[in-house]
Amino acid sequence: MREVNLLASLPVPKRNLQARGAAKTPDVVAVSREYGEMYFDGPREYGYGGYRYDGRYVPVARDIVRHFGLKAGDRVLDVGCAKGFLVKDLLTVCPGLEAFGLDVSEYALTHCVPECIGRLHLGNAVALPFPSGTFQAVISLNTIRNLERPDAVRAVREIERLAPGRGFIQVDSYRTPEQRERFLEWVLTARFHDYPDGWLQMFSEAGYTGDYYWTLIE
Ligand SMILES: C[S@@+](CC[C@H](N)C(=O)[O-])C[C@H]1O[C@@H](n2cnc3c(N)ncnc32)[C@H](O)[C@@H]1O
Repeated sequence: MREVNLLASLPVPKRNLQARGAAKTPDVVAVSREYGEMYFDGPREYGYGGYRYDGRYVPVARDIVRHFGLKAGDRVLDVGCAKGFLVKDLLTVCPGLEAFGLDVSEYALTHCVPECIGRLHLGNAVALPFPSGTFQAVISLNTIRNLERPDAVRAVREIERLAPGRGFIQVDSYRTPEQRERFLEWVLTARFHDYPDGWLQMFSEAGYTGDYYWTLIE
């Protein structure tokens, strides 16, 4: 397992922690966890407040292709692909790559970018419907946190099964109690999160040998 920041090229997100903290009620959290229109394209308190393609993942896709040495004909899967933005960018930066996505949200998949139609699967990260060892890389960005710990372990095991040693998982973490407090104010859908050591323990329980990095609230 190796810590590697493949999202280094993304802009630092602007987050209004106080506003989120005030608006977060059990009803809002329950609606967000449906991963429907409200989460992606409803008001900001329910999630993204408008999840639109803006090309920001193009350099991330380039870094992923370089990191894994991907080439035309290789298969890559994005677990928690939402509307397929990263899948689209992987197809653009590496012509001939067989890029696919999987997400639990029917809303996201039926509102995907047109380049990804037919490439995105409706499913759950805990049981990936693909044969073992058939992907040259499996990516999962900010998705595993949405599962309870036992399911998160199953999901990480699934990623390892499809692409042994060739996963990249980005998860929410914090390095201090103050950062943890700020994270708890912001977070809507997450069910499992931890300090880096807790994540590493979980990865090792899942037999994970791929790479990882942290989404941190500074
Ligand atoms: C924070 S979004 C991240 C989307 C995208 N990976 C990105 O980084 O922009 C989390 C995604 O995980 C999906 N998701 C939540 N639970 C899931 C599950 N059990 N299996 C697959 N996808 C799931 C949601 O529908 C949503 O698209």
